[in-house]
Amino acid sequence: MNDHTKFSVAIIGFGRMGELFYDELKAAPETWNILYICDSNAETREYAKNLSPNSIVIADDTAVFEDERVDVVVLTALADSRKDRIDRALKSNKHVISEKPISDTVEKEWQIVDEVENSCSIVAVNLPLRNAWHNIAIKNFINSGEIGDLAIIRVCSMTPGLAPGEGHLPEGPAFHDCGMHYVDITKWFADSDYHSWHAQAVRMWNYKEPWWLQCHGTFENGVVFDITQGHVYGQLAKDLIHNSYIDIIGTKGIARISHDYHDAVVELHGVNHTEIIKRKYGDKNIDVLCDLFAQSLKTGIMDKRLPTVRDAAIGSLYAWKFLEDAKNNVLPSIGSLSTLEEIKLRRSHLKNGYGISRRKK
Ligand SMILES: NC(=O)c1ccc[n+]([C@@H]2O[C@H](COP(=O)([O-])OP(=O)(O)OC[C@H]3O[C@@H](n4cnc5c(N)ncnc54)[C@H](O)[C@@H]3O)[C@@H](O)[C@H]2O)c1
Repeated sequence: MNDHTKFSVAIIGFGRMGELFYDELKAAPETWNILYICDSNAETREYAKNLSPNSIVIADDTAVFEDERVDVVVLTALADSRKDRIDRALKSNKHVISEKPISDTVEKEWQIVDEVENSCSIVAVNLPLRNAWHNIAIKNFINSGEIGDLAIIRVCSMTPGLAPGEGHLPEGPAFHDCGMHYVDITKWFADSDYHSWHAQAVRMWNYKEPWWLQCHGTFENGVVFDITQGHVYGQLAKDLIHNSYIDIIGTKGIARISHDYHDAVVELHGVNHTEIIKRKYGDKNIDVLCDLFAQSLKTGIMDKRLPTVRDAAIGSLYAWKFLEDAKNNVLPSIGSLSTLEEIKLRRSHLKNGYGISRRKK
């Protein structure tokens, strides 16, 4: 049991995700004190100083790891900076909330898993689909036996999100940067390990990497899956729209969820029970993550609902494997780089959209 109930935090990387964490931590001042904000960008630091005058705003993170008052570091910069910071956090006995992917290579990710699993620190990863009420409702419905035996998991997330070259370069192509969430949640539903797969992708707008990928295959327990992910969905449409769902099919019934990023609709069709639940979507569920993390700090035991570095390393590994498989299959190129430039120009002026920083609003 920890002897204090309020925790000092350093947020390192104050872009879109850093600010989302800031909002949630600030909303619970009885639990969190945002002691440091660190970012390598001078303009961002000016912005942070105005937003959070009581925080120490810095460019160099050394002080964070030397300051014994810091209990938790929130790593929301890019993947290439994470391993070094996780190493330093563990050495200075700090706890960590890390963004995904936990590093920029598979090798470093598994080193992190090894180090974290042999440390006394609590380290959780922001894999928000695992904390989403709608996915938990569906998982409980599967476990209740209402759909019979789980057989097929179909997951789709297509948005006009982050375009190639717009950011997140160490995170890899869309199917790794964003797709690893769906690789992870599909495994979470299947409750088994990936066994076989076949992936098809397309190099949209002639970009060097694929930006849409569909993979289907099997888990070791026989459950089959298909995952479709791409940030290619109507990037230049007058009105932006997306298509996202999870569709779970059992031997007797089904469960599914769709959402418009404001509300989520869960439809449960079991042998005895039919229920339609409509609630606020929850988006990144950072409030849930921070609550579970604070409870874990208080008890000294990491809550089992918190996503681990191992979960993140597995999601990342299979996202890379599926991308690799797609490269070995026919990988067409459609469109031209000039369309991509139009898309990036448009996104640079968007105040509201998919993956657009809140700061621009
Ligand atoms: N869990 C999720 O659902 C989710 C969603 C989006 C992004 N992410 C992940 O979160 C991370 C951040 O994404 P974002 O969209 O906020 O990106 P962003 O580009 O908006 O923000 C990154 C910030 O980090 C700063 N930065 C970059 N390198 C740094 C360094 N070495 N030291 C200090 N600051 C540094 C940048 O100046 C910028 O302010 C990425 O790794 C991304 O994959 C996760």
